[in-house]
Amino acid sequence: HSIETGKFQWSSPSNIALVKYWGKKDSQIPANPSVSFTLNNCKTITKLAFAKKHTSSALSVTDTFSFDLLFEGKPKEDFKPKIQQFFERVLVYLPFLKDYHFTIDTQNTFPHSSGIASSASGMAALAMNLMSLEKALNPEMTEDYFYHKASFLARLGSGSACRSVKGKMVVWGNHDNIQGSSDLFGVEFPNVVHENFKNFQDTILLVDKGEKQVSSSVGHNLMNGHPFAERRFEQAHENLDKLINVFESGNLEEFITIVESEALTLHSMMMTSIPYFILMKPNTLEIINAIWKYRNETKTPVCFTLDAGANVHVLYPENVKESVLQFIKNELVGYCQNGQYLCDEIGDGSQLL
Ligand code: PMV
Repeated sequence: HSIETGKFQWSSPSNIALVKYWGKKDSQIPANPSVSFTLNNCKTITKLAFAKKHTSSALSVTDTFSFDLLFEGKPKEDFKPKIQQFFERVLVYLPFLKDYHFTIDTQNTFPHSSGIASSASGMAALAMNLMSLEKALNPEMTEDYFYHKASFLARLGSGSACRSVKGKMVVWGNHDNIQGSSDLFGVEFPNVVHENFKNFQDTILLVDKGEKQVSSSVGHNLMNGHPFAERRFEQAHENLDKLINVFESGNLEEFITIVESEALTLHSMMMTSIPYFILMKPNTLEIINAIWKYRNETKTPVCFTLDAGANVHVLYPENVKESVLQFIKNELVGYCQNGQYLCDEIGDGSQLL
C-alpha cells in the first residue's frame, strides 16, 4: 500500500422504496427483492481523510481500527459503534482498513431530527469513499466493479443503503425477471422506463420527527416466525413483476395501487408481529385520507408511500407538480410538525465531489 495520505468526498442520496425490503434471510441478505427511486436533494455528504499508520510515528500500527468521526463539523461519539461494526464487517473485503487512520467528516442536507433515516445515504457515502481509496490502491479496477462493490459494502452497513449508490431506480434482491439482479448489491433498473416517471416527484411530509420507535434491525427480525411472512415475501415478487410492466407502460393508476398497497402492507406486518407496533400517527392517516379525497375529486395521479415511521412521502409525476404542491400547501401542511416538508425528486445516485 503505497499511498500515504489523501482525502475523498462523496455525496450519496437517500432513496424511497416502492416495493419494500422488510425481513432478512441471513445477515444482510433480503428475504425479498425491493425497488426504489433514488432521491436527489436529501443526501449525506461525507469527506474521508486518511493517513497511513507507521510504527515510528504517533499514528502507530495497531491491530485495531483507528478513526475520528465528525458530524456537522463536531465530534460525534454516539455514531462510532455503528462505524466500528461496519468496519469489522467489511474488513475482509477491504484489507487496508487497519493500515490507515481515518477522519470521517459527515453532514446531511436534511435536518437531522427530521425523522428521515440517514442510514441509507450515510452508509452509501462512507462506502463510496472507501471504494475510492480501494481504487487508488488498485487502479486497474473497472467502473462496473467499483460500483457493484460499493453497493455490496453499503449493504453491509445498512441494507437499503445499497440502493443509494446508483440512480434513478434501483433493484436489490434476486428476481427472475430482472437481469443482473442480486441479493448482494443493488442494480440500476435495466429496462427503458416510460416518460411518465421522468423527474418523478417525492414531497416528504414530516409528521413526526421523534426518535424511531423500532430500529430497522429489530423490525426486520420481527419477520422471523411472523405468521404472514412467507406470503408477504411472495407478494413482493408479484408486485415487482407488476411494477416492471408499469414502468414500461406508464400506467399510473396501476402504479398507485401497487405503491400504496406496499406501504400499507409494510405497516400491516408491524401491526401483526409479536411484539406489535403502530408507527403511523393520527396525522399520517389524516394525510392519507386527504390524498385519497383529492385524487378522487381531481383525478390527479398522486399517491403516498411510507417508511418504517409516521412521515408520508407524496409521489407524483412532474407534469402535475404545480397543482399537487398547491394542494400540499393548502391541505396537508397543517398535519406536518412545524409545517415542515421537503421537496425531492428522482436523482442520479452517488457523486464524487
Ligand atoms: O436498510 P434498513 O435496514 O434500514 O431497512 C429499511 C427498511 C424500509 O425503509 C422500511 C424499507 C426499504 O426497503 O427501504
